[in-house]
Amino acid sequence: MSSFNYTIHVIGAGHLGAALIQGLLSSGILPNQIFITEHHPKRRQLITQELGVANHSNEPIDITLLCIKPQQLSKLVLIDSYSTKVMISTLAGTEINHLNQHLKKWPIVRAMPNLAAFYQASMTALYTNDQSDTIRSMVNMLFQRIGQLIWLEKESHMHLATAIVGSGPAFFLDLFSHIIHIDKKSPIEVMLYGAIESTIALAKNSNGDIQSIINAITSPGGTTEAGLKMMQENKSAKNLAEVFEVTIKKSKGLQGKNTVLS
Ligand SMILES: NC(=O)c1ccc[n+]([C@@H]2O[C@H](COP(=O)([O-])OP(=O)(O)OC[C@H]3O[C@@H](n4cnc5c(N)ncnc54)[C@H](OP(=O)(O)O)[C@@H]3O)[C@@H](O)[C@H]2O)c1
Repeated sequence: MSSFNYTIHVIGAGHLGAALIQGLLSSGILPNQIFITEHHPKRRQLITQELGVANHSNEPIDITLLCIKPQQLSKLVLIDSYSTKVMISTLAGTEINHLNQHLKKWPIVRAMPNLAAFYQASMTALYTNDQSDTIRSMVNMLFQRIGQLIWLEKESHMHLATAIVGSGPAFFLDLFSHIIHIDKKSPIEVMLYGAIESTIALAKNSNGDIQSIINAITSPGGTTEAGLKMMQENKSAKNLAEVFEVTIKKSKGLQGKNTVLS
């Protein structure tokens, strides 16, 4: 992997912050390039001791990763002399116009990664209205180290990213746990995860025609047909799509009155 000479400050080393730090360290970034600010004394101690990163104490920083909850933003205080080249916000549903009211000075990039950053297997959706190629290139170099990334052209699509990239793994895992429950004493997990990887390969190569693949798997009167019939009767796929719609709606409501969609 290419060399990475920037310093990183993670504000809020909770679930996501810690996963990002671990993934970045696994990618070869050195502990002395990462600093944290974390409220929770126990969490702070655990992360600095186990991962060897230091508490931030006003060093000028290249990249700041804001990983606090959206409702904690109004209480965030950064001293006037705080110095960073870019502020990356992972806050769900919190738009750049709103972030600007709290974080006026710096170019802002919104990022929606997920906890698989820990294993360098995140998908990260990114959005910025900053025109600087230098900023984009720094952000690319950072997130490429922890998985795949996609730049979105519209900020409004970050709500979709929140539902699919950020929350999506929890919905899929809930589904997996119900399937695994069918026969816990069998090697069901190995078969399930393998089949999901097969499904992703089929979908990625479908050229948008997923239905043709479904048809090719489904023999008349066979096992797949029986399962699909049950899915249609129970509206299983429609219900799952609605789960994402509810999540998108929640993301849109997180910021309350200040929401301005692009
Ligand atoms: N978890 C995910 O899978 C995921 C995925 C994508 C995006 N996100 C986004 O990532 C953000 C963080 O989520 P999370 O699940 O990691 O939350 P979390 O586990 O609660 O972590 C946030 C941490 O930040 C600390 N904190 C809050 N304000 C602080 C401040 N001003 N200075 C220093 N530390 C501060 C909190 O401490 P206290 O609790 O003591 O205040 C907490 O330990 C959210 O905005 C969320 O939308 C999360």
